[in-house]
Amino acid sequence: MKQPVRIGLVGSGFMGRTHALGFRSVGAVFDLPLEPRLELLADATPELAAAAAARFGFSRAIGDWRALVDDPAVDLVDITAPNALHAPIALAALARGKPVYCEKPLAPTAAEALTMVNAAERAGVVTQVGFNYICNPMLALAREMIESGELGQIWGFRGIHAEDFMTDRRSPWTWRLDPAGGAGAIADIGSHIIGMARFLLGPIEALCADAETVIDRRPMLGKPEEMRAVEVDDQVRLLVRFARGCRGTIETSWLSAGRKMQLEFEVIGERGALVFSQERFNELRYYKVEADRSRNGFRTITAGPEHPPYGAFCIAGGHQIGFNDLKVIEIRNLLAALAGGPRPYADFREAYEVQRVIDGALQSSREERWVRL
Ligand SMILES: NC(=O)c1ccc[n+]([C@@H]2O[C@H](COP(=O)([O-])OP(=O)(O)OC[C@H]3O[C@@H](n4cnc5c(N)ncnc54)[C@H](O)[C@@H]3O)[C@@H](O)[C@H]2O)c1
Repeated sequence: MKQPVRIGLVGSGFMGRTHALGFRSVGAVFDLPLEPRLELLADATPELAAAAAARFGFSRAIGDWRALVDDPAVDLVDITAPNALHAPIALAALARGKPVYCEKPLAPTAAEALTMVNAAERAGVVTQVGFNYICNPMLALAREMIESGELGQIWGFRGIHAEDFMTDRRSPWTWRLDPAGGAGAIADIGSHIIGMARFLLGPIEALCADAETVIDRRPMLGKPEEMRAVEVDDQVRLLVRFARGCRGTIETSWLSAGRKMQLEFEVIGERGALVFSQERFNELRYYKVEADRSRNGFRTITAGPEHPPYGAFCIAGGHQIGFNDLKVIEIRNLLAALAGGPRPYADFREAYEVQRVIDGALQSSREERWVRL
């Protein structure tokens, strides 16, 4: 019999559901020594928690995350609550020696993220942060092509994460705008492209950024006549220098009309280039510099069983994996680490490094100068 891991999930919104789906299906996709059990779900009220627990298949529900963390039947604390709650919940779990799976951004600031890293390292437990887009088999291929030298010397990176869900001025003030949770668009979505840039090309050593708040007041949720000031960024543009020597740009905005998931990058090398878009994430476009320029052009590599772990989901190429499958891969990595395997790529330390870039960008913009990280 497989050893059970009893999951305590905090939050049952967009990500709570995705995590629950992932824990439910991971065992059907991957052969793992551990078996996740949906033990306890906490939300802001007992009613919300009970409704979600019934829908997702959790055994019990509770309206208090502290009780969830303390519950002896919870082995792993999984945090999908708003950003401002990540640090207190994770620190409480780590103080009890429990491993933590936490959504991004890890913390409001790099200083707080570092406290969490130190607590995790002191506790000696596995941590994982929800940079699920990095779990895409095509990202592994891109990194392999860069590292093997297939693209030659890397000369540049262009990255963007833009969406349009805050474009409407009437979109209400919610926890995503709460400065207690940290930055705005750069933390909410920009953290993904920063994490991707680091995954592909390594550390960013210096940056110069311009952050702006475009819509400076928003109506309160459920009280449209009451306006509240917006203190966080709507969009940020960065010039970055990687420690490996190449330079690039990173852009993020949640005001980008028409863009639903413009998480995209271009890696330009001496002997070729890679182009990726999350809206077509089962593809990687590759340009190889060849002597015969008359046949030159981008070609599209389509995800298939040759790109692990795609084959665990589907034996046939081109059928495509989906957004929720990326979470299944992330959860596979987490459970494998809990079973003694390698630590997940995006653990608390990696998320802290991403947070340093976010903090650096905001500092650069405030002080109108380059910042070394
Ligand atoms: N990795 C990704 O692709 C991705 C995508 C979206 C969101 N996120 C991250 O996931 C987290 C949640 O985002 P979301 O979109 O699911 O938000 P959401 O608003 O849909 O869900 C938040 C959940 O937390 C609950 N909650 C609020 N206060 C609580 C409290 N005090 N105790 C317990 N539960 C509480 C809410 O009731 C809700 O169920 C955020 O940190 C966000 O940045 C990650």
